[in-house]
Amino acid sequence: MAACATVRTTLRRQIQNLERFRQRRPHSSKAQGGKPIESAQQSPITPPAKIQPPPLWTRLGPLTRAAQAYGRSHQRRPKTTQILTSLFIFLCGDISAQTISGDEHDLGRTARALFIGGTSSWPSYLWVVYLSNSFNFASRVLSIAARVVVNQIVFAPLFNTYFFGAQAVLSGASLPEVWERLVKTVPTSIANSVKLWPAVMAINFAFVPLPFRSMFSGTVAVGWQTYLSWLNKKAEESIAAEAEAAAVEKAAAPKVEEMTAPAVAKAAAPFLRTRHTLSSALRPLARNPSPRINHAISHRSASTASSSSSSGPSAKTIAISTALGTAAVLGYYYATDTRASFHKYLVPRVIRVLFPDAEDAHHAGTAALKALYSVGLHPRERVQDVDASGAKPLAVNVFGVQLSNPIGISAGLDKDAEIPDPLFALGAGVVEVGGITPLPQEGNPKPRVFRVVSTDGLINRYGLNSKGADAVAAHLRERLRTFARSIGFTEKEMLDGEAGVPVGSLQDGRLLCVQIAKNKKTDEKDVEAVKKDYVTCVNRLAPYADVLVVNVSSPNTPGLRDLQATGPLTALLSAVVEEAQKTKRKVKPRVMVKVSPDEDHDSQMEGVVQAVWMSGVDGVIVGNTTKKRTGLVPKGVRLTSQEQKNIMEDGGYSGPALFDQTLNLVGRYRKMLDSYSLKTEGLDDAFKKNQKVIFATGGITNGEQALKVLNAGASVAMVYTGMVYGGSGTITRIKNEMREKLAIEDKKQ
Ligand SMILES: Cc1cc2nc3c(=O)[nH]c(=O)nc-3n(C[C@H](O)[C@H](O)[C@H](O)COP(=O)(O)O)c2cc1C
Repeated sequence: MAACATVRTTLRRQIQNLERFRQRRPHSSKAQGGKPIESAQQSPITPPAKIQPPPLWTRLGPLTRAAQAYGRSHQRRPKTTQILTSLFIFLCGDISAQTISGDEHDLGRTARALFIGGTSSWPSYLWVVYLSNSFNFASRVLSIAARVVVNQIVFAPLFNTYFFGAQAVLSGASLPEVWERLVKTVPTSIANSVKLWPAVMAINFAFVPLPFRSMFSGTVAVGWQTYLSWLNKKAEESIAAEAEAAAVEKAAAPKVEEMTAPAVAKAAAPFLRTRHTLSSALRPLARNPSPRINHAISHRSASTASSSSSSGPSAKTIAISTALGTAAVLGYYYATDTRASFHKYLVPRVIRVLFPDAEDAHHAGTAALKALYSVGLHPRERVQDVDASGAKPLAVNVFGVQLSNPIGISAGLDKDAEIPDPLFALGAGVVEVGGITPLPQEGNPKPRVFRVVSTDGLINRYGLNSKGADAVAAHLRERLRTFARSIGFTEKEMLDGEAGVPVGSLQDGRLLCVQIAKNKKTDEKDVEAVKKDYVTCVNRLAPYADVLVVNVSSPNTPGLRDLQATGPLTALLSAVVEEAQKTKRKVKPRVMVKVSPDEDHDSQMEGVVQAVWMSGVDGVIVGNTTKKRTGLVPKGVRLTSQEQKNIMEDGGYSGPALFDQTLNLVGRYRKMLDSYSLKTEGLDDAFKKNQKVIFATGGITNGEQALKVLNAGASVAMVYTGMVYGGSGTITRIKNEMREKLAIEDKKQ
């Protein structure tokens, strides 16, 4: 009873403390990591029904008080506390390592250790905070496992590179020497860290409170380092003793015998090699490496080498090589397969951490895909769009081409047509590159892309940054020529369609759309100047496009959306169609127009429909980003204050919230486009028979939504923001979901 009363009193006191803390910070609405917390009024603290004893760590007397003092210090000055902690840990680590090595104490080495510890402290802490707040799955074990894996893949290489690189630079190494040291040390230390670090980090995330996590891992690191130094020292001593004994024995009886290392040297051997590499990296360049250890190790490896050369590679070597080879092959197949879940769960998150600016992330993603593609290591769809019976369940007919599947990648992801082929490799039936302007232009000032992670949304006001039509055309021409050469055709034969594949996509069953737009400085009221801009783009780019897309719906070029009014739109589209017909190619490119989701009154849509029919364009891409800011945040989702700021940035919003409007517009455009031809006198019959094609874009992120827009009258469902948050496996996932849904519906019938 008495114990219960004490516990109750303790709890009551803690609650009072908490309330006092809240009163001190009346405006605080944020928990650590930027996630909003409920206000005090919304969530009154109710004592638990069953009173639990306080955890053990709160009952350890002076230790608990020290930890509490540390916690308070961390709360007041997190940065200073973390940096001082790191300095202390690195100092202890350095003193222990230098003492054990037995060499003269080197103050320069201590200074270097302190510099590295101090500078890496805060970023390391932020990284631990990020990991602690991320990867929150329903299963705790899975969450911890994900954090451990991400830490091992991202942090270990970065930290090791910084650690050894900084050591070398501070020792006065030249750039080639720094590189040599990194090559020697980083892979070994990463491989070695796998033995210990996942377990340490798992314990860290599972049991250690956030402010103590860096301290915990730092202390383990120092302990580990000290243990390695001790092993190394013991090994040195036993090898030296062994060599001495062998020399005495040799002098007494000159008979060559194989040396047997004493037990401790054997036990230390795997670490010894690592330690040797690491210790030589830590030593300043001017000083010679310790002759004892080097001699001992080279002697030992020489003896191993000579014994193995006589009997060929040992079973162990063969087993290790086979295991490594198998792991490399499996790793390659896993990492390059769009079905691999790390593309969805890991890569987008890691990119967000590495590139806080969304535009930097965009450029890095494009550059990475380009580089990976050039060496054959890009992600790709291994399951083709053909089922076991040879049928193509998702195939659709668009502009006379049987598309392997109806999923497309929307404009803006590959603005300058740098990566159409890696994007096709992700499984898309259609890739739209651009928007491309006639002259190069920078677009709006940065920053101009913002994330709203809680809604999987983006705001962008790029303002059609483009390298310009000439540069993009030159690049697409080179791509065409390279492809032609690779299959033994000339460029002209390709353009005449003799290769039997679409000239834009260069692949059977796929289409390349090239989107064109006007320059910002071209006055939108000067219809002739506007027409000239678009016609110039057609003239340069049409030979390499299966479909030309006229962009009149970007919200970030002033006045562009005004071009959707019937009069100017008809004039503009007619000029583009006319120019496209002049393309020196057997099969002329088709023309589509991309319209905004915000001009959604019947009268506005009817105007667009009229312009489409009167100008003779082949179809409409329905949707784009929206300028509206209502209804974007689903019920129950609370934005962080940064996200609240981001969502109010000027520009167009994209993401799942657009889907309902996209579906609505597709259905209405389908009806209007179809009925226009029937009710309009004077349209010739053959012309009427050509149904206008619709592609849908805006908020499509899964198979069910894709099927819905297709059923509403679209031929292709396009994705952009869904890929930013869902990664490079998004297209494959959407298609799988579609197949599953279709199979279920087939079974029902
Ligand atoms: C960063 C970014 C850049 C874009 N650039 C273009 C562009 O140059 N031309 C264009 O027509 N649409 C552009 N879009 C719009 C997309 O093509 C797409 O229509 C829109 O984002 C809605 O689809 P989503 O919700 O799947 O992203 C861009 C979108 C984003 C997020």
